Amino acid sequence: MPGEMGLIVVVGSFKRRNNPSMTIPAELLQRLAAAKSVTVLTGAGVSAESGVPTFRDAQTGLWAEFSPEELATPRAFQRNPRLVWEWYDWRRKLVAGAKPNAAHLALAEMQNLFLRFHLITQNVDGLHQRARSRNVIEIHGNITRTKCSEEGTIVSAWKDAGDVPPKCPACGGLLRPDVVWFEEPMPEPEMRQAMTASTRCDFFFSIGTSTVVYPAAALHSEALRSGATVVEINPQPTPFTGQAHFALAGAAGVVLPELMKALKAFRAS
Ligand code: APR
Repeated sequence: MPGEMGLIVVVGSFKRRNNPSMTIPAELLQRLAAAKSVTVLTGAGVSAESGVPTFRDAQTGLWAEFSPEELATPRAFQRNPRLVWEWYDWRRKLVAGAKPNAAHLALAEMQNLFLRFHLITQNVDGLHQRARSRNVIEIHGNITRTKCSEEGTIVSAWKDAGDVPPKCPACGGLLRPDVVWFEEPMPEPEMRQAMTASTRCDFFFSIGTSTVVYPAAALHSEALRSGATVVEINPQPTPFTGQAHFALAGAAGVVLPELMKALKAFRAS
């Protein structure tokens, strides 16, 4: 599946499983404390508390204000490269001004608590890496990198001749952000790593993602099918909520530090 199908969106109905308080269920802690291999998939919600807008949150999401068809597809770039480049430049500056929040920091801490730990992200903001998470699997690319739209090579320096977008110093092609646009194939090595990490883990966390964009949203079911305990952390229900073993309804920057505190206390008890 990875690499063949581009990014596609599916909207479905769901059952709400509300978890009123922030106490972490004892059964979740028991299973997590015994886990050897943990995989985490994050989405835009993890960076929301850093001031980076999500995509689909009503009113505040980027897609509430901008149209993905005009800004995040290869055809949009062909049609109006200046518009696309300037929009990503605006987002790049926003991300550069943001700081990792308590959710990013808790995940960076979590990586040291398990024998095997994998962090897969749909985010292009690099905030996990800035929080010192290692070996982050970026399945949608990274907005702080630029590549040649002709050769696909990463370009880190170019002459500012006033062109918007700037030109590739090697072939003169237009430069573009190194992110995966809708209708574009996924990066195969990263998708292969993500699939392996999702099918060979004891525990799978889905944090701050609406689970409507594929193939990333298929990783949850792969983890379920392979027998992992699956936990969703999201203040809102998603199409996946009803299938998760545990759904913690809260902000990642609140729930994750709570979870870390409870896990350490559980292990020490
Ligand atoms: N903590 C946890 N989750 C949150 C928070 C928070 N503080 N704030 C919002 N959320 C949740 C929302 O309820 C929503 O379910 O984060 C989710 C964000 O969903 P989207 O905006 O759809 O983002 P994401 O799932 O990452 O989108 C997937 O779509 O547009 C493309 O390529 C883009 O990577 C992106 C992909």
